[in-house]
Amino acid sequence: MAPVLKTTEELQLMREAGRIVAVAHEAMRLAIAPGVSTKALDAIALNVLRDHGAEPCFLGYAPGEHPPYPATITASVNNELVHGIPSESRILEEGDIIGLDVACLYRGFVGDAAFTHPVGAVSRSARRLMEATKAALQAAIAASILGNRISDVAKATAKSAARAGYSVAREYTGHGVGRDMHEEPQVPNWWSGKKSQIQWQDYELEVGMTYAIEPMLIAGRSDLLELEDGWTVVTKDGSLTAHFEHTVAITADGPLILTLP
Ligand code: MF3
Ligand code: CO
Repeated sequence: MAPVLKTTEELQLMREAGRIVAVAHEAMRLAIAPGVSTKALDAIALNVLRDHGAEPCFLGYAPGEHPPYPATITASVNNELVHGIPSESRILEEGDIIGLDVACLYRGFVGDAAFTHPVGAVSRSARRLMEATKAALQAAIAASILGNRISDVAKATAKSAARAGYSVAREYTGHGVGRDMHEEPQVPNWWSGKKSQIQWQDYELEVGMTYAIEPMLIAGRSDLLELEDGWTVVTKDGSLTAHFEHTVAITADGPLILTLP
């Protein structure tokens, strides 16, 4: 199925959903400190969403073999790449880095964004990884222009990550966003051009296309493991990871980031 193109009016609604996601992120960012549990951050995000009349998209989400996702956000600390389940017993410590992901549904449309934050003072290597992941996202956004294809966006991410000396997660990709949290196209963070990647259609970018770009960078090897909770994804070698995500729209005037405050 081809990506669903959105009208200008629909983009305005998606901008609203994206803005609410950004407000939730800002509230969580301000609460991050040593001693705070990831569950406390989840409660903050849920409150912001409800205050704005929006619903969390992750709560109850149960694709494939996964048990229903039990929270509003995912909170992935250090070697946890994505999908960390918030918990009262997961207490942030000085030096951690925490990836927070939240999506909401507002008036029929979804906004989806993720950021990785330091907890207090963090190592130089952690800071560098976060900066590189943010830069990879910016490179992918900059490549989201008419005349380009999804593969150009993927290559921009991959090139940026490789230049900084990091690997990318291959098993997880960005995705179209709209009335559904996951639509066409898939937006990978790498591109081989080989047959193995043919399941990801290389669409030409068009006005009204909306997708989430979400680079996940890894300081060590890119082999991943899913924990027994059925969700949390960690690096096999325990190396540090960072994740940033924005929902963007393709317009005639260039990429429009929908998940800004
Ligand atoms: N941003 C992620 C995604 O687009 C978040 C999914 S978390 C889940 O797939 F909990 F909902 F799975
Ligand atoms: Co996403």
